[in-house]
Amino acid sequence: MQPNRSATPLNSLLLAGLFSLSASSCLPPIDTQLTGECSDLTKAEEPYFQNSILDPVLDQHCVLCHSVDLPEGENLGTRRGTPPYANYNIFNSDNGATRRPDITWLRIADRTMPPMGRQLRPDETDLLYEWLNCVQAAQDQEVGDDDDSADDDDSADDDDSAR
Ligand code: HEC
Repeated sequence: MQPNRSATPLNSLLLAGLFSLSASSCLPPIDTQLTGECSDLTKAEEPYFQNSILDPVLDQHCVLCHSVDLPEGENLGTRRGTPPYANYNIFNSDNGATRRPDITWLRIADRTMPPMGRQLRPDETDLLYEWLNCVQAAQDQEVGDDDDSADDDDSADDDDSAR
């Protein structure tokens, strides 16, 4: 007798559908790319990071593994294999979210971070999205910084490399 060939693909399709539904906890998909749109550039500055981002969100979800204070290693109490430049408790353009807001957002949006424990709530995700867009906007401004408007304080005297 001929086995019913359509049974297997259909079943696994249904199963895969069920699995992905439960794996994402029914949260709607989010855009994995930043727009770089920001209505308030003070959100790209350190006080906002310290008070509104680090304390309420990153400290609870990320710093367990992504911390400047953790030694190299894979075990509990170490970095657990996180890259040395991926620290989320420091405000520094060479590190963490301020280094690569786009990669940080990608890993939040595709929900590969945090890899275990409590997932970010939608309000936390929204807060990080808004913040990372402002960090991105500030970086975009710096890169293409050839305007000399009044609020542009990227003055020549903070860079003596050319002298
Ligand atoms: C349980 C430990 C753990 C927690 C908690 C955690 N991460 Fe990670 N993260 C890792 C490890 C390990 C890697 C390296 C492997 C990888 O890229 O998946 C990583 C990699 C990353 C990367 C890629 C870095 C790069 O430049 O390649 C980003 C971005 C990131 N994490 C963001 C976050 C954010 C944001 C949070 C909090 C919302 C978070 N992680 C929470 C363990 C963790």
